[in-house]
Amino acid sequence: MAKKNTVSRGRIPTHVAIIMDGNGRWAISRGLPRLAGHRAGTENLRRIITACTEFGVKYLTIYAFSTENWGRPREEVEGLMHILEDVIDKELAELNKEGVQLRHIGHLERLDPKLQEKVLEAIELTKNNKRLILNVAFNYGGRDEIVCAIQRILKDGILPEDVNADLVSQYMFTAGVPDPDLIIRTSGELRVSNFLIWQGAYSEWYVTSVYWPDFDKEELQKALDTFSQRDRRYGGLSRTIKD
Ligand code: IPE
Ligand code: IPE
Ligand code: MG
Repeated sequence: MAKKNTVSRGRIPTHVAIIMDGNGRWAISRGLPRLAGHRAGTENLRRIITACTEFGVKYLTIYAFSTENWGRPREEVEGLMHILEDVIDKELAELNKEGVQLRHIGHLERLDPKLQEKVLEAIELTKNNKRLILNVAFNYGGRDEIVCAIQRILKDGILPEDVNADLVSQYMFTAGVPDPDLIIRTSGELRVSNFLIWQGAYSEWYVTSVYWPDFDKEELQKALDTFSQRDRRYGGLSRTIKD
């Protein structure tokens, strides 16, 4: 019984990234509109953020809206924008109290100017918090991020011989953030969907068939426990073989 709050006696990943997928199917399976699934997914996110602070995760990156999600019906896209606005209005003060530092990865430009302003205010308000860095990937795409990095490298006049993996990392939206140790994808899809394709080169993956609104603290614990059993070899040999 006492187990629930004592996650992973093993290693806790420093950086967890989540593809929060399956909101639509969660809603449809209950006879609800897809947006109800997005609302439920957002409520769940709130719980998972708190769980991450309790478990000692330092960085959490969440995939909330991809550069490809603009292709969805207009009402769904608008609904998702409203949800982001609502979350900032309702949750910001609490998140700030919990020591969460909000950051954004992706492009803000295409969002409504008022929403952009809200996001920037939230980032400003929480910038000195240290307990959990929460990167919100909103209007984010991995290929778009790499294209932007190349453009900025060229604009800065960096010489070809000075381009290396560390430098490219510094030109990503995630500059200064360690690469994700663990990437979780809910709802069972076995694909990357343009998420952290540079940073995830050596991340461990955990895919569960559970839809995002149902991915609770216990499910997170399972993911962290699985992670703590992984043998990360980075192309080398297992520690047990080497020693
Ligand atoms: C993930 O849930 C949330 C977003 C992509 C915004 P989906 O909306 O993709 O849910 P499914 O995959 O259709 O069930
Ligand atoms: C990935 O989910 C994007 C987010 C979770 C925000 P999608 O539902 O958009 O991905 P695909 O279309 O199944 O690849
Ligand atoms: Mg989906």
